[in-house]
Amino acid sequence: MWYAVGVNRESEQTMKAELIDGKALAAETRAKVKAGVAELKAKTGVTPGLGVVLVGDDPASRSYVTAKERALEEAGMRSVDVRLGAETTQEELLAVIARLNADPQVHGILVQLPLPRGLDADAVIEAIAPEKDVDGFTPINVGKMILGQDCFLPCTPHGVLRLLGQAGANTRGAHAVVVGRSAIVGRPLANLLSRKAPDGDATVTLCHSATPDLARFTREADILIVAAGRPGTVTGDMVKPGAIVIDVGVNRVPDPTAQRGYRLRGDCDFESVAAVASRLTPVPGGVGPMTIAMLLENTLKAAVRAAGGAS
Ligand code: GUN
Repeated sequence: MWYAVGVNRESEQTMKAELIDGKALAAETRAKVKAGVAELKAKTGVTPGLGVVLVGDDPASRSYVTAKERALEEAGMRSVDVRLGAETTQEELLAVIARLNADPQVHGILVQLPLPRGLDADAVIEAIAPEKDVDGFTPINVGKMILGQDCFLPCTPHGVLRLLGQAGANTRGAHAVVVGRSAIVGRPLANLLSRKAPDGDATVTLCHSATPDLARFTREADILIVAAGRPGTVTGDMVKPGAIVIDVGVNRVPDPTAQRGYRLRGDCDFESVAAVASRLTPVPGGVGPMTIAMLLENTLKAAVRAAGGAS
């Protein structure tokens, strides 16, 4: 859904961009998942269950996990919450994964990243049964994604594709520039956008922290996806007029006037980018809600499969 925006008084810059409403699209998606959950329960008696593992006490991770658990409950799914202290050993964590792998009531497993120092995230992810890997992080799922085979797509990149669809973006033949090469967002997105597919077929440039003169590339982007993890990475002067910009960043910026003492900021300088782009995701209310919606979709898909369905 679009809503027009007018003059931003703070910066005196005219906002040209229409905002891409991730919150509304996520609500729509979650309603569909909820209906799917009810149907599965009615047909098979199966309630989709997700094992949600949080290790340590990182405040941002805690709030993401809480939001995911709330969404699961709201969709009629079961969340099996596992909270472990920061001192948890690799062996203890692997034992938890083994238990969740073996539990027939658990159809999906999510280990919130990053893990505390000293834990080997790669080994933990690799221990997750691929058929329960609703984050799409295991080597099997990543390999299938790259090969274009059916798999669980990682939630944030998948959510970005849906937002581009919602924005009416024509990815075919477009130049998509992805800023950030994380294994969770940047690299899978670059791959998905270059697939031979209705939501792919883009020419993709992947930029990262070692890219000299970032603006040279971002200014060429018809579709610009910013997932650098640093506020202010992209400013308006770095954006091609009329580009579609997806801001994946979620940064806590200290703000004594805010109730919680911080404000959420994306990786883009919102005001200056909104003055140049044609469409832009806000932070919050853009990519974040779609990540959760895609997690719910994947969990339902895992449960349907486990119940013998084809989804
Ligand atoms: N940390 C940041 N994003 C994600 C995500 O999508 N899944 C998990 N498990 N951890 C994350």
